Amino acid sequence: MLKNLQSDISIITLNNDDNTDKKNDFSNDSSDDKNLKNNTKIDEIDSDDNVEEISTIKIYSRIRPSKYKVPNRYWIVKPEEDVLNDEKPLPKIGFLIPRSESQGLINNQKEKHEFKFDRVFDKDTKQEEIFDVVAKDVVLSVLDGYNGTIFAYGQTGSGKTFTITGGAERYEDRGIIPRSLQFIFKEIQKRTDCEYSINISYLEIYNENGYDLLDSSREAKKLEDLPKVYLMEDDENRIHIRNLASIPAVNEEEALNLLFIGDTNRVISETPSNPESSRSHCIFIITVVCKRQGHDAIRKSKLHLVDLAGSERVAKTQIGGTLLKEAKYINLSLHYLEQVIIALHEKALGKRQHIPYRNSMMTSVLRDSLGGNCKTTMIATIAVEPELIEVIIKN
Ligand SMILES: Nc1ncnc2c1ncn2[C@@H]1O[C@H](COP(=O)(O)OP(=O)(O)O)[C@@H](O)[C@H]1O
Ligand SMILES: [Mg+2]
Repeated sequence: MLKNLQSDISIITLNNDDNTDKKNDFSNDSSDDKNLKNNTKIDEIDSDDNVEEISTIKIYSRIRPSKYKVPNRYWIVKPEEDVLNDEKPLPKIGFLIPRSESQGLINNQKEKHEFKFDRVFDKDTKQEEIFDVVAKDVVLSVLDGYNGTIFAYGQTGSGKTFTITGGAERYEDRGIIPRSLQFIFKEIQKRTDCEYSINISYLEIYNENGYDLLDSSREAKKLEDLPKVYLMEDDENRIHIRNLASIPAVNEEEALNLLFIGDTNRVISETPSNPESSRSHCIFIITVVCKRQGHDAIRKSKLHLVDLAGSERVAKTQIGGTLLKEAKYINLSLHYLEQVIIALHEKALGKRQHIPYRNSMMTSVLRDSLGGNCKTTMIATIAVEPELIEVIIKN
């Protein structure tokens, strides 16, 4: 996936040519669904409708610091050093994979591999900088009424959960979720245009089944004990998520508590073959509801913070049973996500109309939060230990 998404997609621009991608309108209906027929539009809010909105899918990468002293087999090329570049210079990260002697020293195997990104964060980058560069704009646009999605993509152990949720030991290690919550609650205090309310959902997708992580009603001992979330299609072919709690949080503390409940369920429900949920996708959803003073109409927008399943391709010959089933689902769902992102790119170029959202639960859930005006960001986390670099290249 890294290969396919690098260079091209990182600089694509998606034009808004799809109604479903527009800024969410104010609606009198309090249900989850937008674009309802009886939307009540508020002129001032819609006044920017004619302006052609443009959004980009941004792809970043972040190197995880290594616990051991490892030989430096990667390098980062800053745009200004890159003399042979095309129109838009982008930083690159390169990896050196020496030819293995077992294959003979004289063979054609490539030794150097370079990937382009919108920005490469080296291993000493702090969580604060990651939030400022990767997440802040997305969070701001969600407060302005657009949907947004931030993905962490990478192999198990490369720092996805550290980036999205953060490390538990030090306050400064908190990741994108707690920082987004803090930012949102601070920001809505300042904004007087709307009365804001915040709802939280936390979904885990394992083998194409969805589970509600915010369940605190009973003691979940395994994933299957959690309430099952399912998708339903209405008469107009719209997909709705059913049985996923959306819990109001009136302040940062309440929201963090919900994150804690979800993370606790995430850990408890680990299966032996599902250590630290690395075989499942977790989506933390912050819904921002905005109600104009003196009006009944409300506007909803959503921020999806996605910790993807480990991207490593499990060697199919060495596994069977549950692991093989998991590997198939992970490979397939990452493949479908890749297809959707490539399709959005092609749609922006006018090459196609159809976006294959329906192929997986994750792309169905994210359907209204990818492409168009929705800000979409992916951060590819990378571990540089020699044995892990080879996995990146192969993937
Ligand atoms: N940027 C980082 N700085 C410090 N420690 C990190 C960083 N990224 C990851 N780690 C640590 O490395 C280990 C693996 O990271 P984790 O986020 O759990 O990986 P993943 O979710 O991709 O499997 C964890 O102990 C985590 O705290
Ligand atoms: Mg993880």
